[in-house]
Amino acid sequence: MPPDKRLSLLRLLPTLAKNPLECWSAEFFREPVLKLRLPFADTVLVHEPQAIRRVLLDNAANYRKDPLQRRILSSGLADGLLSVEGLRWEVQRRTLAPLFAKRSVSSFARPMLDAATALATKWTKLGDGAVVDVAAEMTLVTLTVLALTIFSDGIGEDFDQFRQAMNAYFGVIGRIGVLDLLGAPPWVPRPGQARLRRTMDYFEGVIDQIIEARRRKLLAVRRDIENDDLLSLLLRALDPSTGRSMGLNEVKSNILTFLSAGHETTANALAWSSFLLTQSPRWTALVQEEAARELQGPVEGLADRLVVTRAVVDEALRLYPPIAAISRMADQGDVIAGVRVKPGSLIVIAPYVLHRHQRLWHLPDVFDPSRFLETQKSKIGRYAYLPFGTGPRTCIGASFALQEATIVLAALINKFDLQILPGTNVWPIQRVTLRPSELKMSIGLRRTSS
Ligand code: HEM
Repeated sequence: MPPDKRLSLLRLLPTLAKNPLECWSAEFFREPVLKLRLPFADTVLVHEPQAIRRVLLDNAANYRKDPLQRRILSSGLADGLLSVEGLRWEVQRRTLAPLFAKRSVSSFARPMLDAATALATKWTKLGDGAVVDVAAEMTLVTLTVLALTIFSDGIGEDFDQFRQAMNAYFGVIGRIGVLDLLGAPPWVPRPGQARLRRTMDYFEGVIDQIIEARRRKLLAVRRDIENDDLLSLLLRALDPSTGRSMGLNEVKSNILTFLSAGHETTANALAWSSFLLTQSPRWTALVQEEAARELQGPVEGLADRLVVTRAVVDEALRLYPPIAAISRMADQGDVIAGVRVKPGSLIVIAPYVLHRHQRLWHLPDVFDPSRFLETQKSKIGRYAYLPFGTGPRTCIGASFALQEATIVLAALINKFDLQILPGTNVWPIQRVTLRPSELKMSIGLRRTSS
């Protein structure tokens, strides 16, 4: 339950640094637009559909990604799609769009299923009733999917070392430090910066080697390899307007961007979906029934046939959106939903608040995947549900993530009964993404599974 009253400034700053989610008091879930005066910026919280449309679509040019968010999200990814602005962004977005078009995403269904099967095999070996940290296991499976879909030749060095370096990287970025909140310039050293630099150096070294090896291979083959992975698609991608390919730095930054933007987010979607299923025997049974039936069919079109599983993922993304808040900085003054916005104001659109807003949802806190089934789905307002954002900067990997989460969830729920360990206190924590505080589960082997 959110606190009834707004936090005082004295409590707000440490709470923002510890877990920003705990700053949302009850009124935010009732009011469409609210203004706050914070020490680092005038802030406008926007949870009204038409006002969201104005910020993210109709007047999007006036609302750039804010410097705080970019500093937190983009260390090491500065030349990638998530961080670039203006013309550079336009060129990259056009060039990268085909990598995430339906045809390429569909071709990744097989590696997604393979990664899920590898995890299921590992869990089976652990034995009936073994206890696993489901959040960590989901992070592992999404990283495996990215490794298989970006670097189908493997990642060169030791996968475990690569994974540990990824975790170290995510352990450092994404904390809103007090220095950031107070607006300290980027050259002021932040805690953990040296460790982050070492991790980035390791990554960049491994990725440089892989890119170089692939470029040589592509030159030698000189024709399209069947079932291209994301790296080949990226090295071949051309801006449709100019016919130019990307520079090496941009290729590298975008590989890092896909790894960072695509792995924790999807892992959290899977972790929260699994958690919510442990709370609902009825939906678990429906997913198991669907999975047993559909996994026997061809892998082509599998995610499209897993309708119930997909509704569970959609509902998990509503209750626990991995990107819990989207923020922008107003360039010029504006008026949104009758509220005056000063130049330089920080605009926050929080999917976490929007998705549980009392004006927009019936029984907002109740887990009910049927909201996303058939006729019900068309009743959801266009700007009431934004786990992937909207407008020009909407998530480029949305179909990839949804397909992956649906296939992996179905494959695991088909084979295992998941039970949350008694005494586990599952609580959402907002770092870069919205993750569960802990998620230890016992995994029972299902005897009836295919
Ligand atoms: C459930 C999983 C995911 C969620 C919830 C998610 C959410 C989001 C959101 C909300 C944004 C917009 C941020 C803003 O407007 O400020 C975004 C952008 C982005 N996402 Fe995702 N994402 C997910 C998975 C992925 C995957 C799998 C990839 C790539 C492999 C990816 C790559 C990106 C990139 C590159 C952008 C920046 C797009 C641009 O600025 O043009 N995401 N994502």
